[in-house]
Amino acid sequence: MENQARGNWGSRIGFIAAAAGSAVGLGNIWKFPYITGQYGGAAFVIVYLLFVILVCIPVMSSELLVGRLTGKNPVGAFKQLVPQSSWWIVGAMGILAGFIILSFYSVIGGWAISYIFRSGAYMASGGANAGDVFGGFITSPIAPLVWHAIFMAICIGIVMAGVEKGIEKYSKILMPALVVLMFILIIRSITLPGAGAGLSFYLKPDFSKLTGAGILAALGQAFFSLSLGMGCMITYGSYLKKDTNIPTDAYWISGADTAIAFLAGLMIFPAVFAFGLEPGAGPGLTFITVPAVFASMGTIGHLFGIIFFVLLTFAAVTSAISLLEVVTAYFIDEAKWDRKKATVIMGIIIFLIGVPCSLGLGVWSNIKIIAGRDILDSLDFVASNILLPLGGFLLLIFIGWFWGTDKAIKAGNEGAKGGITLGSGYAFLVKYIAPIALIIVFIMKIMEF
Ligand code: PHE
Repeated sequence: MENQARGNWGSRIGFIAAAAGSAVGLGNIWKFPYITGQYGGAAFVIVYLLFVILVCIPVMSSELLVGRLTGKNPVGAFKQLVPQSSWWIVGAMGILAGFIILSFYSVIGGWAISYIFRSGAYMASGGANAGDVFGGFITSPIAPLVWHAIFMAICIGIVMAGVEKGIEKYSKILMPALVVLMFILIIRSITLPGAGAGLSFYLKPDFSKLTGAGILAALGQAFFSLSLGMGCMITYGSYLKKDTNIPTDAYWISGADTAIAFLAGLMIFPAVFAFGLEPGAGPGLTFITVPAVFASMGTIGHLFGIIFFVLLTFAAVTSAISLLEVVTAYFIDEAKWDRKKATVIMGIIIFLIGVPCSLGLGVWSNIKIIAGRDILDSLDFVASNILLPLGGFLLLIFIGWFWGTDKAIKAGNEGAKGGITLGSGYAFLVKYIAPIALIIVFIMKIMEF
């Protein structure tokens, strides 16, 4: 049954590292803190956690088992499970989402690379000008595009080589290094004078701040952060060996991702309040706050700053290659392109879509598309808050009501020795709880419009 031509993960830990590498990225360290800040703090975090547990973990198991069973990209997977039906459109929607996400993701990834070389600028003033350094950089027309191109070129290079070569090896070392550095930052951040206000913003829920838009954003963020709803885990699952315990791995990946997002908040918010910054400041939050913390550490902060952005770049690359892999795997399997052609052509198109996203923060900042959002934010909104949850919803409906949870449970438990097994709890979540939760969120959001 194993499909050697498509490659396989080398080991169980290798797969978990790669899947966690996809999940852990800018979504955790850049996006989670800034939208938590925008939507009011602790209450948002609680809603986020509920979505992870009730909706995302079942979706993650479902994507992995569909991928492993079929050994296909998202479109091919649906075609194999239910030939002659229109379900493949769900897979196609996911590939479109991957396209859109990577285009702006690569712009932010470019910021992360450029920050490896920017410590001189923010250290000089003890961090006081961290906001100006950031603002000056992202609004300039050319520099961010050059970094965006470099980021995309790195991703193209890695995906061209094939998943099993690069991804596993580095994820195993660099991800733990990122966590260690985050702990150092957390300690520094919570010992800054005035940090307490940040801790209570982040940890003491005030549910009156919660809005329908905030709940939808929490849902979109949970899907985005866990790389769900677009077939990424179907694609990664397609390289899985048959002896993997899918539900156990789904818990590990979701747990690691959620823990790292949580730590990112702990690293950012105490410092935001200590430095008198604005928690709802938006996409610049991490890029302004983290340098300010480093600057407050003196000379050693310089070194930490460089290491931090190297590791952030790495985390961003491991996520971005999973996005590119989804798009590439589709063209390889379904259009019969070779890997090189698929990766280069798609990589270039995605790069080009990213260009207006970057310009929209500077020279084209007067262009607003969805409800006052700039170009980047609009694409993020469409992909993260609409396409991903919708893709997840349709997958749940597919498994719960068409294909059948019995078949899914059988496919998911295959090869599971020890650990968790899928059973009636999974079926109940997939058939009822998760889809109903999604319907409620969509209705709440639509009513607000
Ligand atoms: N989960 C990644 C992150 O948090 C982004 C991503 C989304 C990757 C969807 C793949 C699919 O940065």
